[in-house]
Amino acid sequence: MQRVGVAILGLGTIGSAVATALEERHDLIAERTGQQLVLRAVFERTPERASRANLDPDIIATDLATVLSEDGLDVVVEVLGREQPAADYMVRCLNAGFHVVTANKEALSKHFAEILAAAKQAGRGILFEASVGGGIPLLVSYRQILATNRVTRVRGIVNGTTNYILSQMASGGAAYADALAEAQRLGYAESDPSGDVEGFDAAYKLAILASLMSGRHVLPDEIIRTGITGVTPRDIDDARKRGGVIKLIAKAELGNDGELALSVAPEFVPNDELLAHVHANYNAIEVVGDCVGPVVLSGQGAGPLPTASAILSDIVEAVRNGAAANPAFPLGA
Ligand code: HSE
Repeated sequence: MQRVGVAILGLGTIGSAVATALEERHDLIAERTGQQLVLRAVFERTPERASRANLDPDIIATDLATVLSEDGLDVVVEVLGREQPAADYMVRCLNAGFHVVTANKEALSKHFAEILAAAKQAGRGILFEASVGGGIPLLVSYRQILATNRVTRVRGIVNGTTNYILSQMASGGAAYADALAEAQRLGYAESDPSGDVEGFDAAYKLAILASLMSGRHVLPDEIIRTGITGVTPRDIDDARKRGGVIKLIAKAELGNDGELALSVAPEFVPNDELLAHVHANYNAIEVVGDCVGPVVLSGQGAGPLPTASAILSDIVEAVRNGAAANPAFPLGA
């Protein structure tokens, strides 16, 4: 058996779920993969979060250097959220010789080139399956398609919170504020849910997909973005009368000129489209390749358990393949 030391940066909703899943799934993962994943260190500065997590207090540190000095550490899971210090910490962890697994779409989308370069320089893996599509094995499939196809379009629902809100408003006539509060309670929303409802979260995810699609670092602010705060019950009712629903759609389309058209916006989706039937915290992304044609990937795009599932898979993959798991191309400007 291979012993694998894991550290978690951040004990928020996702970090706590990863800590629990590491323990509960230890035997199953060992049996399936030959890897014994052991939580060796945790970075958390909020005392209430640290005590609520029910972990050995000795493994909790309030500075990164202490975490990185832990014996037997192999993989650092970054789930701090937000841009900084998360992006700097990822680079520091890679420079210190550890593989990094992240769910942090904001930090990654804004610093993708720098983080990938640090991983290559250090010969370590940067894995980010949980950053787009939550528990869906989306990036692994997407990158497999990209390896042999010219991908011309990526289009879909990539934010669970807004999809939950729009679904609740459409099916049960729920009020916007109540649906948002429930999405927060279920652990779908960001700590600041304006990131979800204003479309920033979807833009970060689309920027990551578009960067992988184009081989250049696509920044989130290149994306034309509209959130769902302006969607009214009347809009939803009108859509229903026209035979469809309103969904927050993220889109990257490659034009004949080779330019990418990038947008996140609420759109009318007719009922004869698969995306119209993707509800609650589910995401669905259609990838169109010139060899494979259209492929749709769907599953729970938000929530502590599905996200922890993607993170644990990435830890296993980081240990198996290390830097070989990274995108092969540098992300140019
Ligand atoms: N807040 C995000 C969402 C979490 O609702 O999709 C998953 O990235």
